[in-house]
Amino acid sequence: MTHYDIHSIRNDFPILKSVVNGKPLVYLDNGASTQKPQLVIDAINHYYSSQNSNVHRGVHYLSQIATDAYEVTRRKLKSFINSKEEYEIILTKGTTDSINLVASTFGNTFINEGDEVLISAMEHHSNIVPWQMLCESRKASLKVIPINDAGELDMNAYGNLLNERVKIVSVTYVSNTLGTINPVKEIIRLAHAQDIPVLLDAAQAIQHISIDVQALDVDFLAFSGHKMYGPTGVGVLYGKEKWLNAIPPYQGGGDMIKDVSFEKTTYNDLPFKFEAGTPNIEAGVALAFAIDYINSIGLDKIAQYEHELLEYATDELLAIDGLRIIGTAKQKSSVISFVVGTIHPYDIGVILDKLGIAVRTGHHCTQPLMALYGIPGTVRASIGLYNTKEEIDILVKGVRKAVSMLS
Ligand SMILES: Cc1ncc(COP(=O)(O)O)c(C=O)c1O
Repeated sequence: MTHYDIHSIRNDFPILKSVVNGKPLVYLDNGASTQKPQLVIDAINHYYSSQNSNVHRGVHYLSQIATDAYEVTRRKLKSFINSKEEYEIILTKGTTDSINLVASTFGNTFINEGDEVLISAMEHHSNIVPWQMLCESRKASLKVIPINDAGELDMNAYGNLLNERVKIVSVTYVSNTLGTINPVKEIIRLAHAQDIPVLLDAAQAIQHISIDVQALDVDFLAFSGHKMYGPTGVGVLYGKEKWLNAIPPYQGGGDMIKDVSFEKTTYNDLPFKFEAGTPNIEAGVALAFAIDYINSIGLDKIAQYEHELLEYATDELLAIDGLRIIGTAKQKSSVISFVVGTIHPYDIGVILDKLGIAVRTGHHCTQPLMALYGIPGTVRASIGLYNTKEEIDILVKGVRKAVSMLS
């Protein structure tokens, strides 16, 4: 294994010392949400103990320091994803909120009857349903890029689906169910060759892969704080300035205005135009600390460590009779979905839970993908920066036990 101070990293996460059903917790549900390091927990505590006030509104001391702390996060996000401008970072509730924002505002401005929205077969419901709703109201069509058996995008089919009716391509960077890392640079290049903007759902990428929005030349990027060791209730929409200026506000209310009269309202500048109402301030403030935490280890190091665990877990799980991994792409993130014979994933999950092992079972908010594979769901182990080889051994032993009880 690469040198990686796993002992000290684990010590940063108090919840990892938990005992579940009499066993030490083995947390392998990082795709759903990650645990929080002490410095993020402390930041929330500190916010409420000594900074709490509303942001962007007051002249008084607390309002100023709360606003400053909140805006530090925007600055850190700017450098974390290398956006050109700080005001291209919109703070939202999370990935779902960010995608809905684009589907609604971009969609209602640029998508008309007969137009097409292109997504892929491996999308999370968050990147299907908002577009489906939009297409229904605008009389547009939702088109789907197919995948092969390994769970990789069919790039030839993608090329053929691009045409002048397609008004946006919205695809996931990393599949939450399959772990596939999509060739996003190529996806963007091909779309841009036909002047089509691209939204990337980076919910499962931001915590594993170093992202440079300028190098990618991506138009919109969405992700969630809680999947990157930060708090729930805060997320990000990155948008290129030209697009953010071209689309109307998403919601109306406080903060997003310049002037309001009963006759007419003028809207605030970026990014506040898209940030109506009081945000989740403590989460926004604490997200900066999650970024610091990731940076203190380094995303490249994290990715390498997680990849070694992924390879180890894949080999060990495949040695179990009847176990089939769903998602075998060449480029994979640290997610392993599997089924064993005809055993229902839920039953395996329940037994694993009795052993203190947290995995996710079910369709993982990707029902169309499950339908494609002809399965009701999978067991999904998703690895985070604090997992260990020993935990993989416990998982494998647990799966063996579950299989022997259920066969
Ligand atoms: C790929 C992907 N997109 C979107 C989402 C939705 O994220 P959130 O619930 O934080 O909005 C998830 C959550 O699991 C996801 O994995």
